[in-house]
Amino acid sequence: MGFNSSNLKSGYKSAALLFLFAVAASATFAQETTIPIETANNAMVLQVAKNKDLNTIYFGVKLSNAAEYGKVPGVYNQDDYTGMLNSAYTSSGSRNLVEPAISVTHADGNNSLDLKYVSHNITKVSDDVSLLTIQLKDPVYDFEVTLYYKSYFKDDVIEQWSTIKNNEKGVVTLNKFASANLYLKAGSFWLRQYHGDWAKEMQPEETQITHGVKTIDTKLGTRANLFEPSVFMVSLDKPATEDEGTVLYGGVEWSGNFREDFELDPTDNLRIIAGANNYASAYTLKTGEDFKTPAVWYTLSDKGRGDASRKLQSWARNYKLLDGKGTRMTLLNNWESTYFDFNEQKLSELLKDTKKLGVDLFLLDDGWFANKYPRNGDHAGLGDWQENKSKLPNGIAALVKESQTDGVKFGIWIEPEMVNPKSILYEKHPDWVVKQPKRDEYYFRNQLVLDLTNPKVQDFVFNIVDSLFVKNPGLAFIKWDCNAVIYNAYSARLKDQSHFYVDYVRGLYKVLERIRAKYPVVPMMLCSGGGGRVDYAALQYFTEFWPSDNTDPIERIFIQWEYSYFYPAMASANHVTDWGKQPLKFRTDVAMMGRLGFDIVVSKLSGSDLQFAQDAVKTYNSVKQTIWQGDQYRLSDPREKNVASIMYLDAAKANGVMFNYLVNYRYDQGSKTPIRLKGLDPKKNYKLKEINLYPGASSSIDGEKTYQGDFLMKVGFNPQVNTGRSSVVLQISEIN
Ligand code: DGJ
Repeated sequence: MGFNSSNLKSGYKSAALLFLFAVAASATFAQETTIPIETANNAMVLQVAKNKDLNTIYFGVKLSNAAEYGKVPGVYNQDDYTGMLNSAYTSSGSRNLVEPAISVTHADGNNSLDLKYVSHNITKVSDDVSLLTIQLKDPVYDFEVTLYYKSYFKDDVIEQWSTIKNNEKGVVTLNKFASANLYLKAGSFWLRQYHGDWAKEMQPEETQITHGVKTIDTKLGTRANLFEPSVFMVSLDKPATEDEGTVLYGGVEWSGNFREDFELDPTDNLRIIAGANNYASAYTLKTGEDFKTPAVWYTLSDKGRGDASRKLQSWARNYKLLDGKGTRMTLLNNWESTYFDFNEQKLSELLKDTKKLGVDLFLLDDGWFANKYPRNGDHAGLGDWQENKSKLPNGIAALVKESQTDGVKFGIWIEPEMVNPKSILYEKHPDWVVKQPKRDEYYFRNQLVLDLTNPKVQDFVFNIVDSLFVKNPGLAFIKWDCNAVIYNAYSARLKDQSHFYVDYVRGLYKVLERIRAKYPVVPMMLCSGGGGRVDYAALQYFTEFWPSDNTDPIERIFIQWEYSYFYPAMASANHVTDWGKQPLKFRTDVAMMGRLGFDIVVSKLSGSDLQFAQDAVKTYNSVKQTIWQGDQYRLSDPREKNVASIMYLDAAKANGVMFNYLVNYRYDQGSKTPIRLKGLDPKKNYKLKEINLYPGASSSIDGEKTYQGDFLMKVGFNPQVNTGRSSVVLQISEIN
C-alpha cells in the first residue's frame, strides 16, 4: 500500500478517535480525589480534577453526608471556558482568564504557569488542630508550590499559606504570591470593609459586590493599616446581622503591605485572593530558594456576625494572641497628662498617683530620651535611646526602683523602628535610613523609618529592647509605637529594591522573634499612632494593641465595637482620658470593655471623681476575667439604636457583665424598651445588679429581682439608660 495523504488523514482520524476514547474512558472511570477540610461546622472541599487541576468544589456549612460533596459541581450549570475559575490556587499565563493568586516569570523569561496536583498529606497537630499540605507542580517547569491549610476544628478557623519553590536552573521572579485563594457560591455577596485615618479607625462600609475585581490593600509599608486594615466580612445572599446570616471573616497575618482581591467572576461566584501585596515587590528566587507567604485566616458562620466573632475571639485567645489565656495589667499612662514635659520629680508624683489610683503599672510614654537633640517634641531625638539627662538625671533605673518602693510596676514607651533626622543615629548611620538617595526626604511626623531589611538595624532595634531589660530587670511593660509610613521606599543595602517591602516585615519579625526568645512573657502593647498596625502575625508577639488615639468615649464605643468583631476584648488597650464631653464614669465604663488604663491627671481629680476611679479599678478587677475570657454578645448596635449595649458571659453561663451607653443625646432619648440578653442558660435564674456607680448615686434598678434566662433573652431587661443615667453597667449573676 502506497503512502498518500488520505491515508495520513485516516491515520490521524483513528489516532484522534483512540484519544477521544481514552478521554471518555477516564471521564467515566477515573476517580476524582476530593480533599475535605472540615471543622466543627464547616467544610471546604477541594477536588483534584482529571487533568490534575486542584479546584474548590464546596465551601460552606458541612453536609451531613460527606460522600455527596463530589456531587456539588454537577448541580451547577455555569459555563466556565477555562475550567479553572474555581482553582484552589490560580496560576497565570496558561488557561487562566481572571485574577491570579500566583504569577511568575521563569528563568527563561516565560510567563506561563500551570500548577498540577502531585500529592497531599494531613497531619494531626493536636486534638483540635490539623495541617493539610498539598503539593502542586508545573509539568513544564521545575517549579512547585505547597499549599498549607491549618484548621482549628472547634473554632471553625482556617489559616492558609503557601510555599513557592524554584528548582529551575536560574532565577525566577514572583510577580504575585498570594496566600489564599477562596471560592464561594451564593446568590449575592456583601462586603463589609473598613477605612480610616488617625483617630478615625475602623469605619465600616458595606456594599454588594459587583462583577469585576475590588481590591483592598495598603502600600504604606509601616503603619500599614492607617487607611484600611485587612480584616473584612463577606456575607452570602444578604448582609448578615448580628445573629443571622452566613458570613465569612478574613484577614492577612502580615504587618506590612497586604492585598485582597474580591472578584465576582463571569459565572457569578466569588473569588477571594489574599496575601502580602505584590505592589513594587516582584520577588526573585534563585535556584533552590523558596518563598513562604504569610498566613491568611478565615472563619465562616451561618449564625451571623456575633457567632463568627465569638469563634474568632476564642481562636485568638487559644492560639494567636500572646498570653491569650493569661492576665493583663491595669495602668496609668502619662502621655496626655504631660506630653513631653516631665522630669523626675513629676514622674515620682505620677508613680504615687498610680498607687493611689490602685492600678498595677505606670507607663512612661514618649519624651524620656536623647541628649544632643533632646526629645522635647516630636521633631528631634528619635533614635537616640539614652535617658535624657536633664529630665531623668538618675535614669530609668531610679524610676524602676522607685516604682518598686511604691508597690507598682513600671513600663516604658519606645518607637524603635524610626528616626528623626535631628538625631545622632541619623548622623552616624545615614545608610540605615529608608530614603531615596537622589531625592528630597519627605517626613511623616518629622521622622523616617529605619531599614529593617538590614541585619545591623535588626541588631540595633533588638538591642534597644534588650538593653532596657538588661539594665532594668524590673521593667514590666513595653509600649511599641510606630508612627510613620514609608515614603521613598529604598534600602541602601538591598541589591534588589523590589524585595524591600517584604524583607522589611520579615526583618521586623526576626527582631520580635529574638525579643520573645529572650523575654517570652513580658507584656507589650502594639501601637501605631493609634491603631495603625494590628494583625494576627504581630499579635503573636504582643499582648495587646492600642485601637486609636481617639479616646472620646462616644467615638470609642463605635471603634471598639468594630474591632471587637475581629479581636478579643483582652487585647484592646482602652484608656480613660480627657477626650470627649462625657463624665468620668461614662469614660471609665467604656474603657472597662477591654484592658483598662488611665491617662489623666489623677492629682486634679475632684474628691468624688478620685473615689469613683479607685472604686472602678476594684470593680474592674472583680469582673475583668469575664470580660477577657468570656463570650462577647453585641446586644444593641449604636449605629441602629440610641443605646449601645454589649455583654460578656463566662463559659459556665453563670456570671456576666452588661455595658449600656446612651449614644444619642437628642431630647428624651434612652432605653424605652428592654434589651434582649443573649447566650444565657434559659433555665437558669439570674439577678442583674448595677455596678460601678458614681459615689453617692443610687441605682434605679432593683438588683434583688430574679429573672429566668428565658425571660431575659425573650423579653429582655431595661438598663434604664437616659440622659441622667447615660452609662449603666450591670453585673449578671446566676442565682442558685
Ligand atoms: C502615638 C501614640 O498613639 C500615642 O499614644 C503616644 O504614645 C504618642 N505616639 C507618643 O509620641
